[in-house]
Amino acid sequence: MKTSQKMQQTINDMVDDHRGILAADESAPTIKKRFDDINLESNEDNRRTYRTLLLETPGLGKFISGVILFEETLGQKNAAGTPLAEVAWSQKIVPGIKVDKGTEPLAGSPGDLVTKGLDGLSDRLKTYIDQGARFAKWREVYPITTTNPTRLGIHANAERLAHYAAICQEQGVVPIVEPEVLMDGEHDIDRCEEVTEQVLFAVFQALRQYGVTLEHMILKPNMVLPGKDCRTANPNEIAEATIRVFRRVVPAAVPSINFLSGGQSPEEATINLNAVNQIGGPWKLSISYGRALQQPVLVAWQGKPGNVVAAEIALLKRARLNSLARKGGYKSSMENE
Ligand code: 13P
Repeated sequence: MKTSQKMQQTINDMVDDHRGILAADESAPTIKKRFDDINLESNEDNRRTYRTLLLETPGLGKFISGVILFEETLGQKNAAGTPLAEVAWSQKIVPGIKVDKGTEPLAGSPGDLVTKGLDGLSDRLKTYIDQGARFAKWREVYPITTTNPTRLGIHANAERLAHYAAICQEQGVVPIVEPEVLMDGEHDIDRCEEVTEQVLFAVFQALRQYGVTLEHMILKPNMVLPGKDCRTANPNEIAEATIRVFRRVVPAAVPSINFLSGGQSPEEATINLNAVNQIGGPWKLSISYGRALQQPVLVAWQGKPGNVVAAEIALLKRARLNSLARKGGYKSSMENE
C-alpha cells in the first residue's frame, strides 16, 4: 500500500463523529507520579497490568478509536501473551506511540523549552511500525510568563513539530501534532488566546514548509483557558475563544482536532468539550485526554485486582460522557446517573 493510502486508512479508522483518543503514554517519571498518588510502586509489571486493564475494558472501542502508548507498552503483552497493540486493535482501537523524548531548555531563550527526540527518529519508527503502531505523537510545550514564549521559542518549537511530522508521513505514520500552551500561571484567558493563536499560526506555517499533508495529521491542542491561578472563565467564554483561534489559523483540511486535557478536572474537560462542540467548525472536535480520562480509573483501581471492574466502569463512564459531549449533548446531571 502507498504511504498516503496507509495514512488515509488510519485517519478513517480513527476519526468519526462519536469517538476519541485515550492518551496512555505517560513517561516513566509521569506514571510514577500517578502511581504514587495511589501508593503503588511503578515497576514494569504494575505498569503492564494497569495499561492492560485500560485496553481490555469491555466496550471501550465504542467510545475510543485510538490509544497513544509509551514505548515500553508497545513491547508488552497481556496475561494471555497477546501484544497490547493487538489487544487494542481487537476492539478497533488504533495503537499509536509517543515518539518524543521530553523537553529541555532552549539555549539563548530563558524560560522557553524545546522537545528532544528527532535524532534517530526515522529508524525508531521502523521498529514501532513492526510492533503495530500506526500513528505517532510529539508534544511541544509553551510556558506562559510575561516574556514567554518568545518569538524564538515559538519558531523553534514549530520547526521541531513540523520536522517530526514530515518524518512520520514519509513512513506512512499519521502524526499527532501537539503544541501545548500550558495552563500554569496567573495569566488571563485573553493572554492564552493571544499565545495560542501565535503558536498555531507558526506551527501551520512550518508544516507547510516541511510539506506535511494536512489531511493526514491530527492536531492535539490546548483549549484556550485562563491560567490555573487566575479567575475562572465560563465554558462559553472558553469555547468561543478556542473556536475563534482555530477559525483564524487551523486550515479546514485538518480532519480532526483532539484536545489534551492539560490539568482540567475530568468534569471540566467534558463540559468544555461540550461547549466547543455546541459552536462547532469544519473539523471534528474530539479528545485525546490523558489525565481527564484516567484519573477516576486510578482512584477506583488502587492497584487491587478486586477493583478492576470498578476501574473499567470508571473509564467507560468518562469515555461515554465525552462521546456525548462530542455532539454537544452532555449535561452535568449525567455525572450522577
Ligand atoms: P493530558 O490530557 O493529561 O493533558 O495528557 C495528554 C497528553 O498526551 C499530553 O501530552
